[in-house]
Amino acid sequence: MSLGRRAALAAVPLVLALISPLTPAHADDTDPEALVNALNAIFGANPGKRAAHTHGFCVKGSFVPTDEAAKFSKAPHLTGRGPWPVVGRFSMGGGNPLAPNGQKDNVRALAIHIDLGDGNQTDMVLISAPIFAAKTPAKFLELLQTVATKDKDKIGDFFAANPESTRQKAWLEARPVPASYATVSYHGVHTFTLTNAEGQNQIIKWKLVPKAGEIGISDEEAKGKDPDFYKPELTERLAKGPVEFEMTAILGEPGDALDDPTVLWPEERKSAAIGTLTIGALEDDKVCDTNMFDPTNVVDGIAGPENDGIFLIRSPAYAVSFSRRNQ
Ligand code: HEM
Repeated sequence: MSLGRRAALAAVPLVLALISPLTPAHADDTDPEALVNALNAIFGANPGKRAAHTHGFCVKGSFVPTDEAAKFSKAPHLTGRGPWPVVGRFSMGGGNPLAPNGQKDNVRALAIHIDLGDGNQTDMVLISAPIFAAKTPAKFLELLQTVATKDKDKIGDFFAANPESTRQKAWLEARPVPASYATVSYHGVHTFTLTNAEGQNQIIKWKLVPKAGEIGISDEEAKGKDPDFYKPELTERLAKGPVEFEMTAILGEPGDALDDPTVLWPEERKSAAIGTLTIGALEDDKVCDTNMFDPTNVVDGIAGPENDGIFLIRSPAYAVSFSRRNQ
């Protein structure tokens, strides 16, 4: 059984060494460093901070799988009983360290490390929309560089020429601002393949569904909120009891998009209950900041998409941001 990558920070320079030049699996030859530079061009290089999802805070809890989970995957945390310790981070999308919590057209996010024991962990890095804003790294770089010009005509031309990049914003604007980090669903966006002990495969997309329900606030209420209202809100909520999410796997069917994170799967897809994620308390931010959450850090029994260029470039781009914020 191959477990998730060691959490050891010492491995990061090695990771950086291995990602240049990029592996042939990348769908295009976009430089991960150029993506981080483009994020910095929009939001500024905030020393010591993440280039994206800059505004956030660390939490801790645990994960317990359902009995059904083992039918889909032989991954240790889906076949073992648990509870498996979890460290997580809630954040707002983008690189603005003060990104207002009430902003409607921005994603909320949740990233987790699940501790598998013996220094091993596996990660999930999710956002509050089922789709991303670009279908390839080259398109995402072009989008970021165009936004950085602040030229309204150029930005308009980009979205007119790339309508798939308008879908995430439209999806967010069609829904209320989440009342809390605890009252919104989080999506893995990419297509993963689960493999069980019998070698049977199932394509899925991860979705964490809040047990408190999906609850939003009106645009008026959101405008009146403190830009940093989510942290005190969650602190108050956790004082009354833990926050829970049902981890579900949306079950893909033949013909569903495997490698394009701008494409929504049909609404009617069935889901399987995989486990319960419980967030019990806030955690010192240093615990989240001395490591990086890496969507490609999966374990035997869970595989990421092979030809989704966005998925493949995330880890090297995060390593660039991680290495800079730790200098
Ligand atoms: C080419 C596409 C992408 C680029 C260049 C990119 C870039 C980044 C960077 C630089 C960070 C900061 C990493 C760190 O310093 O630890 C980050 C964090 C994050 N990204 Fe992305 N990202 C991309 C796609 C996505 C997608 C598709 C998702 C959706 C699931 C996503 C969700 C997140 C989340 C949730 C975090 C915060 C992790 C944390 O709290 O530490 N990103 N991204």
